Amino acid sequence: MCGIFGCILKNGEAAPIIHAALKRLEYRGYDSVGEATIHENKLFIKKDQGKIDDVHARHNLDDIPGRIGVGHTRWATHGAPYQTNAHPHIDCAGQVAVVHNGVIENFAELRRELEELGHVLKSKTDTEVIPHLIEDKLKKGLTILEALSQAINRLEGSYAIAVVSVREPNKIFCARKESPLVVGVGEDAVYCASDITAFLPLTNKVVVIENGELVAIDDKGYEIRKIADWTPVSREPEIIDWTPKMAEKQGYPHFMLKEIYEQPQCLRNTLRLQEPYLELMTAFLDRAGEVFLVACGTSYHACVAASYMFSKLAFLATHPIIASEFVEQHGKAVNIDSTVLAVSQSGETADTLAAVEHARLRAATVLGLTNVVGSTLTRVSRVYVCQQSGPEVGVAATKTFTSQLCMLAQLALRLAKKRGKVSHVEIERLEEKLEQVPGIAETIVQSQGERLKQLAKKYRDARCFFFLGRGISSATALEGRLKLLEIAYAPSIAYAAGESKHGPISLIEPGFPVIFVCPKDETHKTIVGNIMEMKARGASIIAIVEEGDEKIKSLADDYIEIVKGVPEVLSPIIYVIPLQLFAYHMAIERGYDPDMPRNLAKSVTVK
Ligand code: F6R
Repeated sequence: MCGIFGCILKNGEAAPIIHAALKRLEYRGYDSVGEATIHENKLFIKKDQGKIDDVHARHNLDDIPGRIGVGHTRWATHGAPYQTNAHPHIDCAGQVAVVHNGVIENFAELRRELEELGHVLKSKTDTEVIPHLIEDKLKKGLTILEALSQAINRLEGSYAIAVVSVREPNKIFCARKESPLVVGVGEDAVYCASDITAFLPLTNKVVVIENGELVAIDDKGYEIRKIADWTPVSREPEIIDWTPKMAEKQGYPHFMLKEIYEQPQCLRNTLRLQEPYLELMTAFLDRAGEVFLVACGTSYHACVAASYMFSKLAFLATHPIIASEFVEQHGKAVNIDSTVLAVSQSGETADTLAAVEHARLRAATVLGLTNVVGSTLTRVSRVYVCQQSGPEVGVAATKTFTSQLCMLAQLALRLAKKRGKVSHVEIERLEEKLEQVPGIAETIVQSQGERLKQLAKKYRDARCFFFLGRGISSATALEGRLKLLEIAYAPSIAYAAGESKHGPISLIEPGFPVIFVCPKDETHKTIVGNIMEMKARGASIIAIVEEGDEKIKSLADDYIEIVKGVPEVLSPIIYVIPLQLFAYHMAIERGYDPDMPRNLAKSVTVK
C-alpha cells in the first residue's frame, strides 16, 4: 500500500506542497519517497530510500522548481526498498514520470517485451513498465491521455497512477483500477491522491474517482472519462467534513475497523503474487525431509491452519511451532533436510528470527512469508514471499492474518498440484473458490457489522468466553479468542472442540458464552454433538455457521451466517472475519481503544 499525490497550482511552487502531502500519507508506507516536478519543459526528480524526514534532510524535498508535480511514498512490494526502486519512475527519454500504487501482475512479460524493443529499465519494480509503455505509444504520435489509456489496457492487476510529462506540462493524468484515487479541488490548485488525508488541510472539495476511470487535471479543474470507451463522466465534488485524524482512518473510527474492512482488497492483492517465488517455495517444500511452520501469535495461528491445508491438499505433514519454543522443542532435530517456513507479518519478531537463526546454523532451508519487504526475515530467508497486505496500523493483526492464510492456501494448492495428490478437477474448483474469497469477504464485512455490534452489546458483561472448532476451524477459534482477549480484555479459552470434554467443560455454567466455529465440513456432525454437550450444561451458544444450516441454527442462541460453498481448507479466511468484528465491538462496548491495547506492541523485537 503506497501513497500517491499530485498537484497543479495556479501560482507558487509544488514541491513543498507535495512534500507536506507525502508526510500526511506516510502511514501508507515509508520505505522510500520521491517527487517529480515540471519546470520550463524539464522534468526534475528527487527520490531516495528511507523515511520522508530522512530523505528531506539529505536532499531537501522542497527544493525543486515548478508549479506542477507528483509524489510517492512507498511500501515495497516488488523490489527492495532501494533508491533505484523509489518512485517516480521515468521512461528512457526522461519525458514521462509515473507514480503508482497497486500491483502489476504481468510486469515480467511486459518488461521482457519492452527490453526487446530496446527500452532500458533500471529498477526491479512492477511500476517501471508504465512510463516505458507510455513512451512507446508517444513515439507513435499519441497524446499523453491516449498513450496512458493504451498503456493501461496492457496492465493486469491493480493501480492508481499519476503521470506528468513535459509533452503536456500543464496537466496530470491519472487512472484507477481497484487502488484508491481521489481528486481535490482547491481555490488555487487541483490535487490528486491515494486518499483525502493528503490534501485535506488544503481543500475539502473531493471527487472520488471510480474503478475503470481516467482523469486529467489542470489548474482549473478535472475531466473524467471511462477507460473502456472514453465516455465523459460528469461528477460534482462532495464536501467532506472530516478532521485530519478521521481522514487518515478514511472515516472509520479506528484503524482496526478500517483494516478489517480492507480485507477484501488485501486478499485481492495477495492473490497477485509473484509466480517464480511461489514456484521456488513449492519446490523446497516438496523435497523437504520435514517442515516446521514457525511463528508467534496470530501468525502462529495462520501456521496451525496451514498445517491442515498442507496435509489435506498436498499430503504433507508439517509441524506448526510457536517460535519461542522452537529451539527447546525441536532444536536438536533440525538438520540439513529440514525446512523452516517462518511466518511473520513484521519480519522482525525476535522469537521468530531466533528460531530462523538456529535453523540456519544447522543448515536447514529457511523460507519466509512476511508483509515487509526489506525486513530481517526477507534477508535471512533462502526464498521469501510478501503477502502484500499494506501497512497495518492497528496493533491487533486482522488483514495481515487473512492475507497470510490466503498466501499459505496458494502454496498448499501449488504443492498439491505438483504432487498430484488431489484431482485436477478438485484443484481447479479450489483455485476458482480462492479467486472468489475476496468477494465473499466483502459480503461478510458489508453485511455482518451491525449484527456483531448487537451481539457485543448482548455479551459485553460476560466474564469469560470459550472458542471451539474442529479440524481447521480450531485454528480459527484460536485466532478469534486471541483477538477478543487482547483488545477487549475478555478472558477467553480456545480449544479443539473434541478436547473440551477432557477438562475445560467443567467451567460451563448457565449462561457461559461458547462460540462455535462450524462450517459445513467433514467435522460438522461431530461438532453438533459438541454443541449439544455444552448446551446440556446451560451454555449460551453463539455459532458461526453456513447459510441454511438449520441443525446448528436451531441449537444456537445466536448465530452468524456465512455464504454457502466456502471449501473447508479456505474457511478460516472467511470464518475469522465475524470473530474480528466481534472482538472490535466488544472492545468498544467495554470502553477500550482497540487500536492500542495495553502492554502490547506492533512488532515484538525482544525475546
Ligand atoms: C496479535 C498480534 C500478535 C502478532 C505476533 C507476531 O493480534 O498481532 O500476536 O501476530 O506478535 O508478529 P509478526 O507476525 O509480526 O511476527
